[in-house]
Amino acid sequence: MCGIIGYIGNRNAIDVLMHGLKRVEYRGYDSAGISIIENNKLVTIKKSGKLTELYKVISHSNHFSNIGFGHTRWATHGEPNDINAHPHLDNSGKISIVHNGIIENCAILKDLLLKQGYTFKSETDTEVLAVYIGSIYEKTKDLTEATRLALSNIVGTFGLLVISEYEPDKIVGARRGSPLVLGIGQNEYILASDQTAIVDYTKRVIYPDDDEMVIVTKDNYILKTLDNIEINKKESTIDLELKQLEKKGFEHFMLKEIFEQGETIENATRGRMIFDTGNIKLGGLTEVTDKLRKARRIILTGCGTSWHSALVGEYMIESLAGIPVEVEYASEFRYRNPILSEEDIVIAISQSGETADTLEAIREAKRKGCTTLGIVNIVGSSIARATDAGVYLHAGPEIGVASTKAFTSQITILLLLALYLGRMNNISQMDGIRIVNEIKLLPKKINTILQQAPSIQKIAKQYANSPNFLYLGRGYNYPIALEGALKLKEISYVHAEGYPAAEMKHGPLALIDENMPVVVLATKDDIFDKLCSNIEEVKARKGKIIAIATEGNTGNKVLEDKAEHIIYIPETSNIITPILSIIPLQLLAYYIALERGTEIDTPRHLAKSVTVE
Ligand code: M6R
Repeated sequence: MCGIIGYIGNRNAIDVLMHGLKRVEYRGYDSAGISIIENNKLVTIKKSGKLTELYKVISHSNHFSNIGFGHTRWATHGEPNDINAHPHLDNSGKISIVHNGIIENCAILKDLLLKQGYTFKSETDTEVLAVYIGSIYEKTKDLTEATRLALSNIVGTFGLLVISEYEPDKIVGARRGSPLVLGIGQNEYILASDQTAIVDYTKRVIYPDDDEMVIVTKDNYILKTLDNIEINKKESTIDLELKQLEKKGFEHFMLKEIFEQGETIENATRGRMIFDTGNIKLGGLTEVTDKLRKARRIILTGCGTSWHSALVGEYMIESLAGIPVEVEYASEFRYRNPILSEEDIVIAISQSGETADTLEAIREAKRKGCTTLGIVNIVGSSIARATDAGVYLHAGPEIGVASTKAFTSQITILLLLALYLGRMNNISQMDGIRIVNEIKLLPKKINTILQQAPSIQKIAKQYANSPNFLYLGRGYNYPIALEGALKLKEISYVHAEGYPAAEMKHGPLALIDENMPVVVLATKDDIFDKLCSNIEEVKARKGKIIAIATEGNTGNKVLEDKAEHIIYIPETSNIITPILSIIPLQLLAYYIALERGTEIDTPRHLAKSVTVE
């Protein structure tokens, strides 16, 4: 969750740290802090609130150093305040750490340390780790060894950096379950939770794996395991351009990302569709083609928006490939001892590739002998590396906490996968050709929807003060109803629920009165008439209908009579509809949040990358 960045080199570390913290702020933003070593003395500055609060303090100071680290926090242990903010110090005040993750055995450790006379200022698990490392340092007089020994006794997860005025020319880093990347520059190194904080300085990186440490000085770095064995690792190259990290004139990253979807769908499909045979080419799956051909069952897993993609994927794969699909919340799957066999394919869906529950679900599936695949956006992320094979989204960095372009890319990749499997099984060449040609038209159709942003904004203004919303859809649009409601909840703090439209009469109908806006996904499909009956049920209770409809559908007459507002999307086939029907809902959520004046890109209590369970 939290963002971390460390620097050692010839620049003023404070500038690098503050710039890097801005880049990783989307990972957590309830407090922030830095530690540097200036003239062999440890200096720590931290502040609750957004990064701007820390800026205010730092801009009035005159510090300079070539080594240090920073942290932007998403609270797990202890409320967000100055004391609980990172970095945390040991009892000597000479060792400082920043940490992303959770120390599960911190209560036992704290008890042990209290009995030995150590004291604590904060409520955090991280301070327990700092004091623990300090207590071991008293005996070993070696920062790397003290860190290594402490971490060997830790239950839990960490992406960790340690510095100390005892050894002022060194940063010690380690990871288990939380990301940490080493950037290798010209006479400088950057350690960060996220490649976006590194790309300003270098594209050369090394990804330490779980239970590995990296010890960095100005001229060198060493990698070793927590078992104290030195290792070598191949360098990778960051696949990211700086300009992708800018807002490009949009007021928020979320809006920019919504508007990028024509382009991101093109990127997701480029070179992957063969138009004269209706086949799909997914290079990342070549090695597992045989396993896929023999697959008896596919399990799709993820969290939040990625779980909604999985629901869409279930319909797509079952319909095109005829393979049974199950969808599991990663957080449930990993703990419920699922019955799996070697013929099962488990596919993790994740924008960040770092979501702790999804990563663990994949590890559980591997332990049980399944073939594991990743549908991931961030190249080189933990899930991308933990799976046997996979397909990247190529959607570029998604900075807004509310996932938008990653969602449409995920369902596009799932559609490609469904067609890939379908063409191995029962989908004819003609049908394959028809589908790829329709997918090709998506960017143009998406841009038509985006042009309606001003009229969607008008609708948003009208309903921005409604305390509740209901979203209804059937078939492919049921997961879209869930996703539309999630978008509204997370950025505007308005209560919203998504339902399969026909389920409404089994309970939620009781909520409907003249104050309830009901967003209905009423696109052209073979259950359109059934959906119209559901609309009648809402109207009979005086609910206000905002309908998403297909241009040119002859059935739209009913909607024109019943709906207060209709937003049209271009016609496409049923299976492709969800890639279009979500876009008006993203815009509606965005403009309602804008009207309500919330922090759209960094909504309260949330973080972009959920690396704790
Ligand atoms: O990075 P991931 O796709 O694994 O993240 C999963 C969820 O945390 C994420 O989709 C979350 O629900 C978003 N904030 C939704 O907009």
